[in-house]
Amino acid sequence: MRRLDQLLANLGYCSRREARGWIEAGRVTVDGAVVTDYGRKAPPAAVRIDGEPPDHPDGLLLLMHKPAGLVCSHDEREGPNIYSLLPPRWRLRNPLVTSIGRLDKDTTGLLLLTDQTELVHRLTSPKHKVPKVYRATVDQALTPDLVALFAAGTLQLDGEKEPCRPAELRILAPREAELVLTEGKYHQVRRMIAATGRTVLSLHRTQFGHLTLGNLAPGQWRELELSTFARGEGVASSG
Ligand code: URA
Repeated sequence: MRRLDQLLANLGYCSRREARGWIEAGRVTVDGAVVTDYGRKAPPAAVRIDGEPPDHPDGLLLLMHKPAGLVCSHDEREGPNIYSLLPPRWRLRNPLVTSIGRLDKDTTGLLLLTDQTELVHRLTSPKHKVPKVYRATVDQALTPDLVALFAAGTLQLDGEKEPCRPAELRILAPREAELVLTEGKYHQVRRMIAATGRTVLSLHRTQFGHLTLGNLAPGQWRELELSTFARGEGVASSG
């Protein structure tokens, strides 16, 4: 049960104050009857706003193909962001729709977004060891010794307390590899490769847990069931 003014504001329809105006103007019904008392509590399933059911009242979970050039920060000063790809109403929700972990501005690929704060914490917590698969193109040939180096779990990056966890490196071509990480230190792939004297030229995330992009084009997203990462089901769901 949620207060009607709060429901409209939290789902991004309008401000709380505007919501009160909408409700007093008769735009909201509960069980088919107009309700003008904006403090009235109702289950979202019983509510209609301008005749329509509320927009995703239980929350959102999205799988996006992040294009290059957009940041994951909400701070407009950091430049154009991925949230500009979402419907305007979703950008006004409270809690905010936010990315589950971040990809750099120039990194492309699979990114999850949600307004479920608990899910963000759970899936970004190092405890959960969700495998994430990155494909990197680098400036110099990759040598087989790097496989053991990354697998050892001893690689220490500058400024980090703990060494990188064991990571699987699959060399696909002289300057192309897949790297599987179960943690998400800042710029981790670029820094791990830099620690070997090479530079990442392009970086793309292909997988998060068992989720893949399928045929989503850059800039597109699709909805996932909120139950995809339901508690107790582990983090390795398909999609
Ligand atoms: N590692 C990086 O260096 N950048 C990303 O965007 C993701 C992982």
